[in-house]
Amino acid sequence: MFPRFLLHHILVLGVSASPKHPEWHSYPFHPPGHPVSAKAAYVMSNEPSGNNIVAMAIASDGTLSEGRSYSTNGNGTNLLNAVTGQPNFPDALASQDSIVRAGEHLFAVNAGSNSVSMFRINNIDPTKLELIGEGQDSKGVLPNTLAASEELKTVCVANTGTPAGIACATYSEDGLSAFDDLRTLDVGQSMNPATGPTPGFADLFFSDNLSTLVASVKGNGTEFTGYMAKFAVEEGKVATVAEKATPPGSGALFGVTIIPGTDNKIFASDASLGGFILDLDNLAGQPIATINVTNQRASCWAKISRFTGTGFLTDVLVNRLVEVSLEDGTILDEYYPPNPFQGMADFAVAGTKLWALSAGNGTFPASITTFDVSGGPKSARQVSVFAIPGAGVNSMGMVVG
Ligand SMILES: *[C@@H]1O[C@H](CO)[C@@H](O)[C@H](O)[C@H]1NC(C)=O
Ligand SMILES: *[C@@H]1O[C@H](CO)[C@@H](O)[C@H](O)[C@H]1NC(C)=O
Ligand SMILES: *[C@@H]1O[C@H](CO)[C@@H](O)[C@H](O)[C@H]1NC(C)=O
Ligand SMILES: *[C@@H]1O[C@H](CO)[C@@H](O)[C@H](O)[C@H]1NC(C)=O
Ligand SMILES: *[C@@H]1O[C@H](CO)[C@@H](O)[C@H](O)[C@H]1NC(C)=O
Repeated sequence: MFPRFLLHHILVLGVSASPKHPEWHSYPFHPPGHPVSAKAAYVMSNEPSGNNIVAMAIASDGTLSEGRSYSTNGNGTNLLNAVTGQPNFPDALASQDSIVRAGEHLFAVNAGSNSVSMFRINNIDPTKLELIGEGQDSKGVLPNTLAASEELKTVCVANTGTPAGIACATYSEDGLSAFDDLRTLDVGQSMNPATGPTPGFADLFFSDNLSTLVASVKGNGTEFTGYMAKFAVEEGKVATVAEKATPPGSGALFGVTIIPGTDNKIFASDASLGGFILDLDNLAGQPIATINVTNQRASCWAKISRFTGTGFLTDVLVNRLVEVSLEDGTILDEYYPPNPFQGMADFAVAGTKLWALSAGNGTFPASITTFDVSGGPKSARQVSVFAIPGAGVNSMGMVVG
């Protein structure tokens, strides 16, 4: 691990073998294949009248510009807020990974038309997208999160409405195949439209070694207990039956990211308290760390910077970036960006930058804030803010590449 880590820093930072930030050494770096920079950012408008992907150009300082919209040929929707009975926003789908990238392809859920769309990303100008093939039926209702593997040429989708469950499809340059039969799971919903932000599916992902497909399911407090569902993947085929486990202390498990280089450790947010570091092989055991975020309200997205070697949490109702040690869950920093937004939802990380979506709440436009983390852990600072052309309060999903 150590030589790789060192190499990464020499390449990326141009620094000597004795970095000023000792924390960086404590992290098992695993950089191969991760983007050192990104040229385009993608957000899904998720509008019920027609879903679009907005592609924006990224300058070298991380600042965004332009904004071209590409129709998915499907529609978005909102979960219905369980308290008000009104469409839920600015967290329309209450999920992480409603759009995902695998290789040169981008996949998006159409939560309002129960389908999944596939795009090809232009390799010269990544702000250009081409819709490939037909949108495919997601086999359930209200698809809200995706996992894609370029190696397996497979995309799986979780449907959080009724019927709820997971279906998988393969893809090629011609588009997506039909999704296979729904692997039904009880996610606490029994009627359509599904209510939110809880209970239901929050995230879907493949383990690093592609042996497992994992779903996180949000509990809703007392009556419905959330869990992680693991499906074995053998020879590219996702098993039909899951193994379920509820990590002790979890309440509303949300976005999850694999901790690179560990194979089986994950960094997960939990809207009821902050987050966890968990062992995928021991989900029912004591968490490796419980991350109690003070005054959090909805910590729903969890991503990792391979540059800083730390994790970040965003909260849709508190405008704060929480930075966490991936070793022991210690909170390293809490940064309140100088902008007027209510909070941040999905976000993406590449190289020395981080981009976070604030879908807006009717008062402010849907925007992306760029953060710079080039100073290492605890250095996150706002660089710029960009109002997303063609996206509003329902926007969801954030990918860079
Ligand atoms: C999307 O919504 C529009 C307007 O409500 C409707 O006409 C159209 O049939 C819908 N498309 C799909 C694919 O659901
Ligand atoms: C939680 O989910 C359960 C199961 O779907 C439902 O019966 C209950 O009303 C929900 N509770 C709240 C507070 O939304
Ligand atoms: C792959 O990762 C899973 C999940 O952590 C683990 O259970 C399994 O042993 C790993 N398989 C191999 C071949 O390393
Ligand atoms: C976090 O909260 C859990 C559950 O309340 C508690 O067991 C744990 O000690 C707390 N950890 C820290 C570091 O405060
Ligand atoms: C939106 O959020 C801002 C910042 O928290 C708040 O001042 C404003 O009242 C909110 N607007 C609505 C319509 O909720």
